Amino acid sequence: MTLAQSRFFPDLVARYPRAPSIALCRVPELELLSAVTLQPPVLDHCCGDGWIAGQAFPSRVLEAGVDISRPALAQAAAAGRYLHTEWGDAGRELPFGTASFRTVFNNSGIEHIPDLDRAIAEIARVLAPGGRLHINVLNRRYFERWPLSPESLQAYRTFQPFLHALDEVEWSAVLTRHGFEPPSFADYFAPDVSRVLAELDYTYSAHYLGHAWSLRVVRDRVTPGSVLRRRIVESLGPLSWEALPGSGSGFLITAVRRAA
Ligand SMILES: C[S@@+](CC[C@H](N)C(=O)[O-])C[C@H]1O[C@@H](n2cnc3c(N)ncnc32)[C@H](O)[C@@H]1O
Repeated sequence: MTLAQSRFFPDLVARYPRAPSIALCRVPELELLSAVTLQPPVLDHCCGDGWIAGQAFPSRVLEAGVDISRPALAQAAAAGRYLHTEWGDAGRELPFGTASFRTVFNNSGIEHIPDLDRAIAEIARVLAPGGRLHINVLNRRYFERWPLSPESLQAYRTFQPFLHALDEVEWSAVLTRHGFEPPSFADYFAPDVSRVLAELDYTYSAHYLGHAWSLRVVRDRVTPGSVLRRRIVESLGPLSWEALPGSGSGFLITAVRRAA
């Protein structure tokens, strides 16, 4: 499926005309997340402002969202996406009782939590036996396929706090040692599209975070949004986001909580 064929692409392009890498990254995340069957109660782990949950599950009010950012949580609460929005450091302790949820999902957030073992142990605690965890995350291959200089990769990894670029074996090890069945993986971003994503993400984030000035980004700032949107549709729309099993630079991980 191409990006242009995704029902999520128009809203993403409208929302991120000056951040095309985000528009690109969110298409497979939303395509795969929206296909998940949510067994209530549901926790959106690292929920941010709740916009992604609203796109993926527009007709659902989810039971809970947790995040470490108070401004993002305030937006999530205002959007009415959750019955409860709770502040919490997911790398320390989740503010919920044991076995409170039957579904936990994390979209593009787990890689920012330094103590991954602690985070997964906490998710396992709040999930009821038989409950499901879904994680959308880029993986080791994204960095192995880095299309720019080694120096740029080194810089990117310091200003983009992507802490856990794991492969299938490593994710399986983390999850099974914290009480999950061996997980399954649904892949996205074949090597060519992975490189497009990396180049875009490096260019925009390096510029905005002050590491490498980019004429393209400067030009974007004075270009009308309508022009930028058209450019994104033309350049990214024909790309396919799908990837063969074991070949994607990102995946949706699904793991079932083992019975105690
Ligand atoms: C890239 S955003 C993704 C937000 C949302 N899931 C989405 O897809 O739009 C990452 C989120 O993780 C949250 N986060 C990072 N570290 C966290 C932690 N230790 N505990 C809880 N939330 C955390 C950030 O505040 C941010 O909202």
